[in-house]
Order: sequence, then C-alpha cells, then structure tokens
Amino acid sequence: MSDVQAVILAAGKGTRMKSSKSKVLHEVAGQPIIDWVVRCALDAGATRVVAILGYQSESIEKHLREEFGNLISFAYQHEQLGTGHAVHCALDELVGYASRTVILSGDVPNLRPETLAAFLLASEENPGLISSILEDPKHYGRIVRDENGKVKSIVEYKDATQEERKIKEINAGFYVFDTQKMQKALNNLLENEPQNAQGEYYLTDLVSALGPCKGWILPDSKEMEGVNNRVDLADAEKFARHAINKKWMEKGVTIIDPMATYIEANVKIEEDVTLEPGVFLKGNTLIGKNTYISSGTIIENTTIGEGVTVLPYCHFEDSRIENSANLGPFVHLRPGADIGPECKVGNFVEIKKVRLDRGAKANHHSYLGDGHVGEKSNIGAGTIFCNYDGKKKHFTRLGKGVFIGSNSALVAPLNIGDGAYVGAGSTITKDIPSKALAVGRGRQKNIEDWAKEKS
Ligand code: UD1
Ligand code: MG
Repeated sequence: MSDVQAVILAAGKGTRMKSSKSKVLHEVAGQPIIDWVVRCALDAGATRVVAILGYQSESIEKHLREEFGNLISFAYQHEQLGTGHAVHCALDELVGYASRTVILSGDVPNLRPETLAAFLLASEENPGLISSILEDPKHYGRIVRDENGKVKSIVEYKDATQEERKIKEINAGFYVFDTQKMQKALNNLLENEPQNAQGEYYLTDLVSALGPCKGWILPDSKEMEGVNNRVDLADAEKFARHAINKKWMEKGVTIIDPMATYIEANVKIEEDVTLEPGVFLKGNTLIGKNTYISSGTIIENTTIGEGVTVLPYCHFEDSRIENSANLGPFVHLRPGADIGPECKVGNFVEIKKVRLDRGAKANHHSYLGDGHVGEKSNIGAGTIFCNYDGKKKHFTRLGKGVFIGSNSALVAPLNIGDGAYVGAGSTITKDIPSKALAVGRGRQKNIEDWAKEKS
C-alpha cells in the first residue's frame, strides 16, 4: 500500500456540548475523543497525523503533544470558513510528506482501525470516500452516483433539491486523496467565493472537482456518528464499551453483565478473569489470570496478579496486588498500596503507601499509612498507623510474624521486631524488640463490690 498520512479536522467550536472544555477532549471510555481518532489513523497504517485546530487550540495541542509526541503535527484555522478551507490551512504540513492523505473528523471516536484500514486498502486508486446508507439520512451530505456507480458529487443538505434529499446514501466525512492533486484542487476551490447555501468552502466539492471516485459503504453506520452534544457522547460511550467488552470476552474474560461493566480503553485483562456487574476498570489497570472481581468495585491504574479474589465494593487506585491475595469487601487502596501474595485485607481497611509482605493480614477496620508489614504479620481489628504529626509523615515498620492486638494505635516513626506482640488497646510510641510483648495502656483495676455499695 502506498504511504498515507492522516489529517484530522478539529477546528470547530462544539457549542452544543455546553462545556468550557474543548469538545474533542471529552472522554469516551476514558480516552479523549480526538485520541480515538489519532489512534485509529495510526493503527490503520498512517505514518503521521496532522491535526487542524482552531477553537481552544492550546489545550488540544498540549494534550496531543503529550500523548503522541513526534507522531503528530499541527495546522491552524483561525476562522472557520468551511471544511475545504480547514484542509487548505494544513497544506504546508501535508504536501511533500506522503503520497496519499486520509481526512478524518476529530469528533468521530467510533471509527474502528480495521474499518479504516479496509477502506484505505480498497481505495488505492484515489480518490475515495466512505459513505453510509441511513434509514433517516438527516442533514448529512447526499452521495450522487453516476451511471457507472462511481460517486460523481456530494450535495450538502442545505443545497439539495427535494429529489436529492430523498437519497439515503450519505457522506460519512472520511476521504482519501492523492496529496498533490488535493493541493491543486483546494487551491482552485479557494480562488473563488463559495457559491452555496452556507457560504462555506466545502471539502465535499473536491469530489466533483477530482472526477468520479469510489464510494466505500460503511458496514456499520454507527462508526461514523459524530459527537455534538452530551447525548451523542453517551451513545459513543455505549458503542465503545460494547466493543471493548466484546474484545475481552473473545479473549477469555467472563463478563456477567456487559451492559453494566465499564472497562476503559487502556485496561488489559488476562484469561479466565471474571467481572461481576458494576465493575469499573480505569486507566492503566492490568488484571491477571483467574482473578475474580465482585460488584461495585472501582479499580484505577492498578496492577493485579493471578488468582486474586476481590469481594464487593472496593476502590483501588495506583496500587499493586500480587497473586492469590484476597481483598474486600469495602477495601480502599490508595496510591502506593502494595499487597503481597496471599495477603488478606478485609472489611473497611484503608491502606496508603504500605507494603504488605506475603501472607500478611489486616482484616477489619484499620488505617495503614506509610509503612512496611513483614511476612505473615497479623494486624488486629481497628489498628491505626498514626503516620502524621500535623506536619510530616512518618514510617511504621513491622517485622515478620508480628501480632498487633485489636484497637492499637502505632505512633510513627516506629520499628517493631520480628515475632513481637502488641497487647490489644495499646498506644505504642517506642520501638519493640523482636519477640517482646508490648502493652501500652492503663492497667485494669477491679473494685470489688463497688456496685453493691452504691445501692
Ligand atoms: C460535513 C460534510 C457532510 C457530511 C458530514 C459528516 C462538508 C461541507 N460537509 O458536514 O457532507 O455528511 O460532514 O459528518 O464537509 N471543521 C473545521 N473547520 C471548519 C468547519 C468544520 O475544522 O471551518 C471541522 C469540524 O470541527 C468537524 C468537521 O470539520 O470536526 C465537520 O464539520 P461539520 O461542520 O460538522 O460539517 P457538517 O456540516 O456536518
Ligand atoms: Mg457535523
């Protein structure tokens, strides 16, 4: 296939989103709309991508530079004079880089790379465009074919006659052109004032200017739907979610209710994982083989090993969980929680920046922050790592096989040696040597017959 670059139209205003954020930066399945388009172009074989920006160009450009680096370049359309004018503004960035140019819309996130690749393959002889057949063709541009079945022209709805408006084949807004021929045709287009209902320079006029072309009909018209408002955004989300869930089910993941399971674009899941309804997997999360995630659990940027069980209603962020650990219900792992293999973390336990070594347990109502817990140590119900003195955070280190009795406050900085014990209800402020028992609480005193004397 000859080399192809992509140009993405994204200068429009997006007024109907009613948002202070640029429309194309709104997210679908955790990924900005425009990223879907850039990824689609790259995955379909484009060697580079040029984005045409206008409204809110700074925030979009900053984001795209961070995300795609050298793969993306920019052109600017300061006044929105139409789609043809937009591509004209990008000519300096396009001519001389690749023999073919594919044009995409920055607000259409659902076009799949496989679809675009098939179109590019089928349109080796330029130009070509993607069309779609719609029961309700709405206000899309209508495709007019000649007697040989080639696309002769595109008529915009506002310019169309009643007869033309009856045409159900519409312009989906994706085109491929020979870059040099496109340059010539756009220069010609810009030479004269536009003669159409909208007074815009129409990109669609290139089709009639360059001669009859191939119209490649989109198998699933959903893929061409653009996002113009929040209702479209939710539709795009649904489409993307369905595609993502289907992909993982095909790779051996059990999703009990795909309509109620939310997996973002960058998540990775291994075979024989089960996801119950109401699970959200976000960011760069990875779930290892045979892991079971129960309802109501939200997992973000977290790596989970194999054979892990997560009971209902947990929230994990920026954490790591190793093989065969058991967590939940109601566990909150905050950034830096690092749960070793075979550990058990249970009801209402919050952990931040703490490593639990193999087989350690914290089963009930605890806060563990800034520390290290050695192998097979047991943290009793209601234990608190008192890590903050109002100004600084301090570290709590527990050796192997330590036993912390229930309702203990461990005031950091603190070192507790291997095999040491802490009596229930203690407030521990000094280090404990290995194998020692520390008790730090008022002694119990029984006053005999105290109640009798009162009566
Ligand atoms: C365009 C097509 C129409 C097609 C439809 C598919 C033209 C003249 N018409 O219509 O045939 O059916 O898309 O969705 O092209 N943009 C700019 N600069 C501009 C104008 C638009 O960057 O000056 C961008 C928009 O931000 C958007 C894209 O181009 O991403 C399409 O523009 P839009 O105004 O939605 O075109 P339509 O009128 O819908
Ligand atoms: Mg549009």
